[in-house]
Amino acid sequence: MSVRWIGATFAGMLIKVSDDPAQAAARFIAARVALSLAEAGKASVAVSGGSTAPALFAGLVESGLPDGQSWNQVGIWQVDERVAPDGDVDRNAGQLAALFATCHLMPVSDVDLAGAAVRYGESLPHAFDVVHLGLGADGHTASWAPLPHPDALTSLASCEAVFAISEFNGRERMTLGPTVVNAARSRVVLASGTNKAAVVAAWVGGNRKRAAAWLDADLPIAAVEPIGTVLFLDHAAASELSPDLYRTVDADGFPVDDREAFGYRPVVMTDLTIDTIGSLPRPARLRELFATDPARAERYVTTAGDLRVDWSKASIDDPTLAALLELAVSSGVEARRDAMFAGEHINVTEDRAVGHVALRMPAGSSFVVDGSDVVPDVHGVLDAMGVFAERIRTDASISHVVNIGIGGSDLGPAMVYESLRAFRHDRIRCSFVSNIDGADIASVLADSDPASTLFIVASKTFGTIETLTNARTARAWLVEALGESAVADHFVAVSTNAERVADFGIDTLNMFGFWDWVGGRYSVDAAIGLSVMIAIGPDAFREFLDGFHTIDEHFRSAPLAENAPVILALLGVWYANGLGHDTKAVLPYANDMGRFAAYLQQLDMESNGKSVDLDGQRVSHQTGPIIWGEPGTNGQHAFYQLIHQGTRIIPCDFIGFAKGNHPHQEHHDLLMANLFAQSEALAFGRSNDAEPHRNFEGDRPNTVILAERLTPCVLGQLIALYEHVVHVQGTIWGVNSYDQWGVELGKELANQITPELTDEPKPDTHDAATNALIAWYRVHR
Ligand code: F6P
Repeated sequence: MSVRWIGATFAGMLIKVSDDPAQAAARFIAARVALSLAEAGKASVAVSGGSTAPALFAGLVESGLPDGQSWNQVGIWQVDERVAPDGDVDRNAGQLAALFATCHLMPVSDVDLAGAAVRYGESLPHAFDVVHLGLGADGHTASWAPLPHPDALTSLASCEAVFAISEFNGRERMTLGPTVVNAARSRVVLASGTNKAAVVAAWVGGNRKRAAAWLDADLPIAAVEPIGTVLFLDHAAASELSPDLYRTVDADGFPVDDREAFGYRPVVMTDLTIDTIGSLPRPARLRELFATDPARAERYVTTAGDLRVDWSKASIDDPTLAALLELAVSSGVEARRDAMFAGEHINVTEDRAVGHVALRMPAGSSFVVDGSDVVPDVHGVLDAMGVFAERIRTDASISHVVNIGIGGSDLGPAMVYESLRAFRHDRIRCSFVSNIDGADIASVLADSDPASTLFIVASKTFGTIETLTNARTARAWLVEALGESAVADHFVAVSTNAERVADFGIDTLNMFGFWDWVGGRYSVDAAIGLSVMIAIGPDAFREFLDGFHTIDEHFRSAPLAENAPVILALLGVWYANGLGHDTKAVLPYANDMGRFAAYLQQLDMESNGKSVDLDGQRVSHQTGPIIWGEPGTNGQHAFYQLIHQGTRIIPCDFIGFAKGNHPHQEHHDLLMANLFAQSEALAFGRSNDAEPHRNFEGDRPNTVILAERLTPCVLGQLIALYEHVVHVQGTIWGVNSYDQWGVELGKELANQITPELTDEPKPDTHDAATNALIAWYRVHR
């Protein structure tokens, strides 16, 4: 098993907070020593730091060793400038000797200090069981900074020195070589006091430069980061850190075993799976992440097309991100993306290609499905739609377009039609009928004039009961008013199934086709978008498609770390699987995007709401989140209370635009001020200890997606962004994002129940509860 370390911060380390960190460190070291004694009959400890050593010795005495073990089996090497040649050797040695009359003290006077480094000798262990370091300006690692020449650390490391002499603050001092530090079976770092607190906070926040700046020296702190380092710090230092960073070792908060059991949680990046993602350390709170690294406000912004995706307020730090990117690679995100673009049958349960990206490819490009380039077909349909749409737009006889469809055959066009209100034809309005509830079609027909109404029956399969029922009702209404001959002029179909369209009574000449490699929820950019094209015109519809294509190209070519859909997908995976957040709110600060969350619900939840993987095995991790939302600012006066102060954490996507699609600038400034305010308030909160009900904890992660203006092109970009997020997440979760078997059972049972509502005698074919419901309905209908 290959093990690599995130390494940029304290990831993988144990951080233990204690009122008396020196005592805690001593207890740990005594336990570690006891373990080595039990295993090997001997133990070795190297101790550095001016005040570190005496505190440790006192603690060791108090901790004691188990019966049968003795300090005389232990070698302790004390390493400090005060034991360097010009130091007070006697004071330290005497102190140690007094405390451990019988232990094997190895004062450095036994070591030849004439050279810059002392190599392993017989009297020195090859690997200490414990190396105990002080951290800070006066701490041990500081003495690595001014090593005699720039690459001294490296050369020191490569020469495998145990001790080295270096000069610090004009004084010669004794230090441990980094190789020895890293070879130790465990490292213990003690950080207490405000100076060290600042260093640790910066270090833990991943900001080594800042950590070094605090000490006014470029500390090679990284050298003590690797495997097995345990940091003890006091509450002053801890107050600078997120409680999430404090990790205890076992039930007693005390390490008792070797490396793994020491309690640091190894982050095995190459072996990280979706099922082990919870083992990644939780990042610090957003307040601390920004305090230690304000540059994340710029660094965690990804641009894709016209979209500025600001994820700096995500609950994530560099190490976690690095691990998630590794997870993306090991999950085959790139390979599956490329397979989609290659027209492979990645929809395995339906044995189909997934080709929605072909719907927006420019003419002349190529997307091959089952050996045929489908782009010419796509453009053939687009051109036909364009001719038809122009005819409707210029022919004054039609002023009302009614799209009859459901799911992907409704939500996409309805959402886009609303969103692009500002781009709509001023004479033609569209209505959308989806629900089997007769109230839906009734209300639309009541508001329609047969002579000026065009019905688009939109159904990929042309077998959906809601759509066919509504279409039949509409057809009967039209025929009653205008006669059978009017159907040809007032009904068109959008479908993949010409036969069923003809059976329904719509001439296939009036049909706009698409293909089984387009999922229903991925079809608004296919002929399913006909109502939208009529509303906004073919040119604007092309811009809409261009927007999709821009993001497709970004998704296809941007490196994973700069790939907006990948980043957003990884954040979602982290929230769902790493942090256990079950839902996600999508909050467009654009009133016209009122149906965007509903649209995303189908896109995301029908795609990734799966519990069986591609091999048919039950997954053991959470998959698609619950998506919901409303436009701002309306939601603020409804459910934001829970997002701000509730017990659940709900990651939010805010979407906003620099310019409104209306002339009321004052409104727009207020709208955007609210977006920015909500994002800030959720992330950073505001403490109010005196009045807990007014306390805002903050640390509510959110992403802010901004664009210049809500145009057809930008809307296409937004949709494609989320489509690819879904794709990436489906890949990582190992599910097929392109089937929807979960809707079948309900449909089947509804078909079975329908005749049972009236048939005589009443069939009792269901469970007792369902039979009772049917019986009640039969009486009361
Ligand atoms: O019931 C689910 C579903 O199959 C969706 O995936 C689809 O968007 C919707 O029904 C409508 O299907 P159709 O376009 O075939 O009528």
